[in-house]
Amino acid sequence: MTRPCNDSFLRALLKEPSARTPIWLMRQAGRYLPEYCETRKRAGSFLQLCKNPALACEVTLQPLARYDLDAAIVFSDILTVPDAMGLGLFFTDGEGPRFERPLREEWAIRGLSPPDPWDHLRYVMDAVAEVRRALNNSVPLIGFSGSPYTLACYMVEGGASSDYRRIKGMLYERPDLLHHILSVTADAVSAYLNAQIESGAQAVMIFDSWGGSLSPAAYEEFSLQYMQRIIGKLVREKDGERVPSIVFTKGGGLWLESIADIGCDAIGLDWTIDIGEARRRVGHRVALQGNLDPAVLFASPDKIAAEASRVLDSYGPGQSGHVFNLGHGISQFTPPENVAALVAAVHQYRRGPAESSA
Ligand code: CP3
Repeated sequence: MTRPCNDSFLRALLKEPSARTPIWLMRQAGRYLPEYCETRKRAGSFLQLCKNPALACEVTLQPLARYDLDAAIVFSDILTVPDAMGLGLFFTDGEGPRFERPLREEWAIRGLSPPDPWDHLRYVMDAVAEVRRALNNSVPLIGFSGSPYTLACYMVEGGASSDYRRIKGMLYERPDLLHHILSVTADAVSAYLNAQIESGAQAVMIFDSWGGSLSPAAYEEFSLQYMQRIIGKLVREKDGERVPSIVFTKGGGLWLESIADIGCDAIGLDWTIDIGEARRRVGHRVALQGNLDPAVLFASPDKIAAEASRVLDSYGPGQSGHVFNLGHGISQFTPPENVAALVAAVHQYRRGPAESSA
C-alpha cells in the first residue's frame, strides 16, 4: 500500500520535509456543521450514529467535503471502550455522557476485563474500513482512543465531573483499585488501537483530556505510565509504512519532556503553551500538533488569519514537524465559514526562507 496522495500530515508527524503545514481539527465532524446535525437526526441519536458504520463514514467525510483538510479522523467517541466493557454508555441532552453502571464497588472493578475489539467494537472497525475505502487514498485516516486515566475518570465518576472527587479519592485512598482499572483499560486500548490500525487507520491519537488535572507525581504514575505501556504495544508499521502516534494531554504543557520520553511520534498541545517554547523544549525529538485557542474561531476572518500566523510564526522556520490544529475540540457554536477562513490561512502561510529547498 502506498502513501495517500496528500501525505503532508504523515510527513509532519515523522518530521519529514513537506510542501505545506497540514491542518485538521479536533472534533472536525460535529454539531457546528448543519449536515452533521441532519445525519445525526437520521441516525436517531449520537450513539446510534457512532454504531452505524455507514452513517459514521458519512459524517467523517462531511468536513473534508467542505474544507481542504489534510487528514480525516474516524467518527466515534472515546467512551465506546468502557461501553464495550459493560458500563452502559448513554447520553442525556445537555448533560453529556453518562454510565448506567459506574465503577464504584471493588467486586465490579475486580471483574473488569478488556473487550475483544473485533467483537464488541466491531462497528468501529467497520467504520474505519469503510472510511478508508471512501477516502480512496486522498488523505490519511486517524484512529483514536481515550487514555486509560481519562476513560477511568468517566468510568468511576459515572459521567462528566467538575472536581473528580470520586476518582481522586480512589487514587489517594485505594491506588491498588485504580491501578487495576488502568491496567485493564490500557490492555483494552492497546488492542483497540491495533485493531483500528489493522482496519486501515494510518496514524493514531490518544486523548488524555483529564490527565492535566493531576499533580505531577500522580500524572506520571496514573496517566503517563499507562500511555507509555500502550505506545509500547502498538503496531509500528503497516504495509511498509510507519503508523505514527500522537499523545494529547490537555493541560500537560509542564510535562512535555516526560511525554516526549514515552516513544510517541508527536505531542498534541493545548493553547496554554507557546508552541515555539514547546518546540525548543522537545521539538528535536517529537513532532508537535496544535495549538490555536478554539475560541479564535468566534472572531473575524482577518483576526483568525492573524492568530493562525501567530502560531505558525511561533513554531518557526523549518517545514517539518508541525501539524496545525486547535488546542482542543471545535465548539458546536463555531460559524462554519470561519473554519474555511482558518484552513485557507494555514495553507496560504509560507514559512521562512531557511526551508525553501524542502
Ligand atoms: O474529532 C472528531 O471529529 C472525531 C470525533 C470525536 C468525538 N469525540 C465525537 C463527539 C472525538 C475524537 C471525540 C473524543 C472525546 N469524546 C473526548 C476527548 C477529546 C476531548 O474533547 O477532550 C472526550 C472527553 C469525549 C467524551 C464526550 N463525548 C463528551 C464529553 C461529549 C459531550 C460533549 C458535548 O459537546 O456535548 C461527547 C459527545 C460527542 N463526541 C459529540 C461528538 C461530535 C457531540 C455529540 C452530539 O452530537 O450530540
